[in-house]
Amino acid sequence: MSHACKILQASAENIDLCVDLLRDEAVVGVPTETVYGLAGNALKEVSLRKIFEVKGRPMLDPLIVHFSSIEQAEIHAEFNEHARALAAQFWPGALTLVLPKKDTISDLVTAALPSVAVRIPEHPIFRSLLERLDFPLAAPSANPFGYVSPTRAEHVASTLGDRILAVIDGGACKHGVESTIVDLRDPDAPKILRPGPLSAEQLGMQDVEMELNQDSNKLAQAAPGMLTQHYSPNTPITLFGHDEQPNNVQKSEAVLYNTKPAGKVAENTFWLSESGDLTEIAHNLFMLIQKLDVRDYTQLKVERAEHVDIGIAVNDRLSRAAAK
Ligand code: TXA
Ligand code: MG
Repeated sequence: MSHACKILQASAENIDLCVDLLRDEAVVGVPTETVYGLAGNALKEVSLRKIFEVKGRPMLDPLIVHFSSIEQAEIHAEFNEHARALAAQFWPGALTLVLPKKDTISDLVTAALPSVAVRIPEHPIFRSLLERLDFPLAAPSANPFGYVSPTRAEHVASTLGDRILAVIDGGACKHGVESTIVDLRDPDAPKILRPGPLSAEQLGMQDVEMELNQDSNKLAQAAPGMLTQHYSPNTPITLFGHDEQPNNVQKSEAVLYNTKPAGKVAENTFWLSESGDLTEIAHNLFMLIQKLDVRDYTQLKVERAEHVDIGIAVNDRLSRAAAK
């Protein structure tokens, strides 16, 4: 555990303070509706380098740039009609679009790719920061590279707290998994690079989603951050099938179900939702994994989610967390 940084309540004064910090090229932990982000000036090399340094993230892994409006986003990325239509329907929200970049975006942001990932977030605190600033914010998830993503301010403070000045507390993140990333460089051949809160069906991209399930290596090349092993807690994770039971559970191991089991449960049994609601399962996933990770269990045995809607994103994160 690191030294905890300041967890700031979202008062007008503290928002002012964070605006000043960001103008001074510092990086700040910010709440979003997906997971907490580590935000810095997307147009300043110093800030961008700090983001990579604080996370211990390889420079080969490009960053998402967050904007306050589509007009702002269009200054830095080349939109096509398909992108504008999705943006109009889903922004502000948990959708990231990969589009050809304009010259204003540096190679540090994109890992020298000719494309940039852009998003307008929905969280009111993040939005109020963006509206006050005259530059966009680059923000990866605010976790050390490879570790579970943070869904509470305390997660950011306990893992990156000795390396940043502040994190703003926006409570528990609504979705609990990162945004859906859609590659729209070619408007006629859209691809889902990362499943998230918005499903392929919602995006009108059912056929594209099939491709995603089949080839995770191809995916890793398209979105360099989609490494097979990612989101890993320190305690080893193994998965068992949805609606199935884990094998051979030891007392030293924890079992994490989707839904609260009926009847009396053992002390090492946990669940993500009372009722099995998928939205709630996603919302609680990273939080519960991090909570169990600091106990002394030798292994976490986790049930896969039903493979529909946001359950696809949950299973994607679980597979990576369990990958060796
Ligand atoms: O919900 C989210 O998207 C959160 C919040 C903070 O906005 N951010 C987030 O960022 O998850 P990060 O850095 O943890 O994941 C960004 C992903 C990585 O997998 C990266 O490879 C991919 O986006 N990415 C970024 N730019 C890209 C590009 N130009 N082409 C393809 N993939 C890109
Ligand atoms: Mg991340």
